[in-house]
Amino acid sequence: MNVKDKIILVTGGANGIGRALCERFHADGAAKIYVADIDFENAERVAVSISGKAFRLDVSDEANCKLIIAEILNESGRIDFIASNAGIGGAQGSLEVENEVWQKIYEINVLSHVYLARAAFPSMIERGAGAFLITASAAGLLTHPLAAPYAATKHAAVALAENLAIEFAEKGIYVSCLCPQGVKTDLIMGGENNPNGFLTVDAISAEECADAVIKALEKETFLILPHPEVAEYIVKKAENRDRWLHSLRKIRAAVLNSKNI
Ligand SMILES: NC(=O)c1ccc[n+]([C@@H]2O[C@H](COP(=O)([O-])OP(=O)(O)OC[C@H]3O[C@@H](n4cnc5c(N)ncnc54)[C@H](O)[C@@H]3O)[C@@H](O)[C@H]2O)c1
Repeated sequence: MNVKDKIILVTGGANGIGRALCERFHADGAAKIYVADIDFENAERVAVSISGKAFRLDVSDEANCKLIIAEILNESGRIDFIASNAGIGGAQGSLEVENEVWQKIYEINVLSHVYLARAAFPSMIERGAGAFLITASAAGLLTHPLAAPYAATKHAAVALAENLAIEFAEKGIYVSCLCPQGVKTDLIMGGENNPNGFLTVDAISAEECADAVIKALEKETFLILPHPEVAEYIVKKAENRDRWLHSLRKIRAAVLNSKNI
């Protein structure tokens, strides 16, 4: 698959990885890019720069997702590719995190993909073609030693992507799953007590992440790993869970120590 002449929707397209995806898809000849984000101001800024169109969208609201998909179908007649990328880092911690916070991150990091796929897949199935990318995280394959809601919801996002890839391949829909480690965006760069701050060490740029997406789409691979070392970590985790948990405990302690929390 390539993005040339495609009608594309990118959620979370106002900033970070989503913005870089929009710009790269535009540079590679996409026909039209819809930039949807809860941050409408920046979505519009991105849309203007790539001759696209901005939508205000809260991906945790199913009615809102349905409406956007209907509007795109109405205007462009089809949607070739959705990068379901919007997501939040959420809270540090585990048991102390309030249920409402767990619920909110689940809605944004998991259910959003269900809502968008549910609304868009029927038209893709009718045409026998379409592509759907879920931005999960390396935390969905490995874990996040400081933020259980993020780790759990990103694992769920990977599982959902796998299920959709299994179920809808025969209907002509190509599903992929983007699992980066640190990418230099607000999600990891913001704030001193950011639980993702330790990921800045080996972080790549959002543009490098978008480049990895383009290369993977060309090969139609399911798992997109902008940090190739993540593939090695997956093997290590599978080989010996206890050894792996032990090293994650050490990483957690080191991060907490360095932050003096
Ligand atoms: N930055 C990283 O290191 C990293 C690593 C792995 C995975 N990810 C994932 O990449 C995706 C993009 O994150 P990013 O790093 O670009 O962060 P970011 O904060 O720069 O961008 C996230 C975007 O999602 C939007 N958004 C948040 N909640 C929304 C909602 N309810 N409805 C619509 N839009 C909403 C934000 O306004 C923002 O524009 C997320 O799913 C994130 O979990 C990021």
